[in-house]
Formats: sequence, C-alpha cells, structure tokens
Amino acid sequence: MKLAILSRAPNSYSTQRLRTAAAQRGHKVRVLNTLRFAIDLSSDEPDLQFRGKPISDYDAILPRIGNSITYFGTAVVRQFEQMDVYTPNTANGISNARDKLRAIQILSRHNIGMPATTFARDRADVLPAIERVGGAPVVIKLLEGTQGIGVILAPDTKVAEAIVETLHSTRQNVLIQRFVSESRGRDIRALVVGDRVVAAMRRVAQDDEFRSNVHRGGKVEAVELERDFEQAAVRSAQIMGLRVAGVDMLEGSEGPLVMEVNSSPGLEGIETATQLDVAGAIIDYIDNQVAFPDVDVRQRLSVSTGYGVAELMVHDGAEIVGMTIGESGLRDRDITVLTLNRGHTVVPNPKNSRELEAGDRLLCFGRLEEMRSMIPARRRRRARVKQLPDHPIEDA
Ligand SMILES: Nc1ncnc2c1ncn2[C@@H]1O[C@H](COP(=O)(O)OP(=O)(O)O)[C@@H](O)[C@H]1O
Ligand SMILES: [Mg+2]
Repeated sequence: MKLAILSRAPNSYSTQRLRTAAAQRGHKVRVLNTLRFAIDLSSDEPDLQFRGKPISDYDAILPRIGNSITYFGTAVVRQFEQMDVYTPNTANGISNARDKLRAIQILSRHNIGMPATTFARDRADVLPAIERVGGAPVVIKLLEGTQGIGVILAPDTKVAEAIVETLHSTRQNVLIQRFVSESRGRDIRALVVGDRVVAAMRRVAQDDEFRSNVHRGGKVEAVELERDFEQAAVRSAQIMGLRVAGVDMLEGSEGPLVMEVNSSPGLEGIETATQLDVAGAIIDYIDNQVAFPDVDVRQRLSVSTGYGVAELMVHDGAEIVGMTIGESGLRDRDITVLTLNRGHTVVPNPKNSRELEAGDRLLCFGRLEEMRSMIPARRRRRARVKQLPDHPIEDA
C-alpha cells in the first residue's frame, strides 16, 4: 500500500518507528507535515494540495495530530475521508477524544467505568459539584491538557474552589473529578489496535507526584491485563471511533476506570516497557483494513429525503413478537434491519428467518414516517411524583 503518516515531528521516535515498520514490510511510505496541506474545495471533487501541489494517490493515512493543531489537523483528516482514503482514526474520533469532557460524555452511556466527574460553570455550582464527586481531595483538569500538564490535585475544598475560579477567570474550562486514591499514583496505558490490546504497561508516579505520565517522570513496566481492563480499553476506543488509541485507566477498587483515550499515543514508552513491535502491529492492521474506509453511515444514508436510520424497539405485546423478520412486513414498509440487539448480543445483518422477541432492538434504515410509530417512548429519568403504594396504607 501507499501510506502517508501525517506528522509534524518526522524525527520523533514514534514517527521513525512507524515509517521503518511500513518500509520493512515493503509499503511505500511518506511522512507529510500536517500543516503543509491545503484543503481544496474549488473543483467538483474534494481535493488536497501538499506544499502547493496536488497530492498523489494514497491508499491510507495514519494521522498523528498534536494537541496544538487539532482544528487544522482534523480538517485535513476529514478531507482524506471525503476522498475515500482509509484512516484508522477518523476526524470525529480525534476531536471527540481530544476533549476529556466530550470523551467521558460519549462513553458514559456505554457502561464503562470512569471516575465520577462533574462540569460546572457558575461560581455557585462549583461547591456542590465538588461535593457530588465525594469532596476534597479532588482532581481538577483542563479539558485539553496532555502529558499531565493541566491535571491538578486539590487537597481541600477551599483550594479546589480557588483553582476552579482562577481558571474560569482566564476563560479555561475545567472538569472536577473524584481523586481515585486507591490507584496510588499508578495507572494503566493500554494500546488498542483494531479490536485488541496489542501492548499494555503500568505507569508508576515517582515520589509524592500523583500523575504517572512518563513526561512527569512516571516509571513504566509491562503488564498482563485482566480481561475487564482489556475489554474496557477496546470498547472505549471503538466507541470513540479510534482504531489506534492509547487508553488510560486507573485501577479502581471495583475495576477499570477510564480517564481518557489518546488518538496519537506515543510508542517509545510502551515499546521499551514491553519489548513488543507496536508500530508493526499498527502498520499490519492498516494494511488489512485499507479496503474498508470508515463510512459515516448516517451522513451517507440520510441523503434521500424521508429516509434515515432509527433504532426500533419490539414492544412487549406488539404484533410482530414471535414473527420472523420476513413475516413481520418490515420490508414491505420499506424498512431494512441492519442489526438486531438482544440483551448483550448483537446479530449483524439478521436473516429473514430470524424470529423476533419482545425487547429486541432493531437498528433499521428506512422510511422515517413508517418507523415513527415503532420508535421507543423516551425514557423518563425520574418519576415526578412518588408512586402510590399498591395497597392503602392501613393494610400495611
Ligand atoms: N481522577 C484521578 N484520580 C487519580 N489520579 C488521576 C486522576 N486523573 C488523573 N490522574 C493521574 O494523572 C495522570 C494524567 O491524567 P490524564 O487525565 O491522563 O491527563 P493527561 O492528558 O495530561 O495525560 C494520569 O495518568 C493519572 O496518573
Ligand atoms: Mg493521560
């Protein structure tokens, strides 16, 4: 394949390793400075210039987008996506992961353990927010910090309030997080490639530092991950839309607590600690996937007026319970079932002979008007009034 590594640091360990791994496998590889692209929307088709000249054909890109150029970098990646060039990490994935709050918001509905986190803006809401995560000591984080910079441990409530207020006054958004003291200055970095963890290490903060980042002097050692840590890492990366990611997890008393997902994980620490060829695993994965560029399904399927994607619920007592998909008449109503979710299992492309059960969730593409009547009622988060007991009080 012909691969472009988008990086502003051609001589860094990670870029060098990736370039070498690709070349060793017989791929054509070039390292292109992300900031030297120009996005060209002047002709009929999406195009890109590099150093003022039209870019040649690439089969795949591997974006290594630093924090300081997220906006421009993701715009370049998005342009490659529009040109049907494969990328393991999409522009959406990169921007979602970059913002720690946004990442936690996205992960929060998927049953992934995370440290209790709050986000508040008004001065009056800061103290209740600190209390909601269990009170001081608390961790305060800049939304887009990296390498441990912008992660502060506030020993008591007064200091915490003062720090948040100071940062707010300089127009910085911060999140407030429970200090996971049981992890004792240690954390786990899992390197996810595709649907597996290819390498993992434990990082241990030194002296009285609580941050275990390598850039803060954290010492690293290889670890064999427990299954729950492995699952949390892979699922987090997949939910974020990243096929190459470094997932940071704390060792909470009840299992893994995901802190963040990094879309351009450094390779030096983890390859040194584990002696594994992580760069090679990344290149092999891209080579394998190159024929399947990520398709933004919603974007592509919503172009015909009146059609779209919806998740339909098979209600208890609904007519179609017990029928097969073929018998259900969905197809006649111009609805195609893409996946069937039952409990924790997912059936992709379910056959016409598959029988429907109450509680099944069907991810469908079809005519919106037809699907409207089948969309589940919105879940009420809390009943407004107390439920009356079944029996009058006197009976009890
Ligand atoms: N809630 C927390 N409880 C305990 N330690 C934490 C917590 N959040 C972060 N840390 C420590 O600080 C380090 C940096 O935090 P992280 O959110 O990963 O930011 P960065 O992007 O700067 O790496 C982590 O690797 C971990 O050692
Ligand atoms: Mg981190």
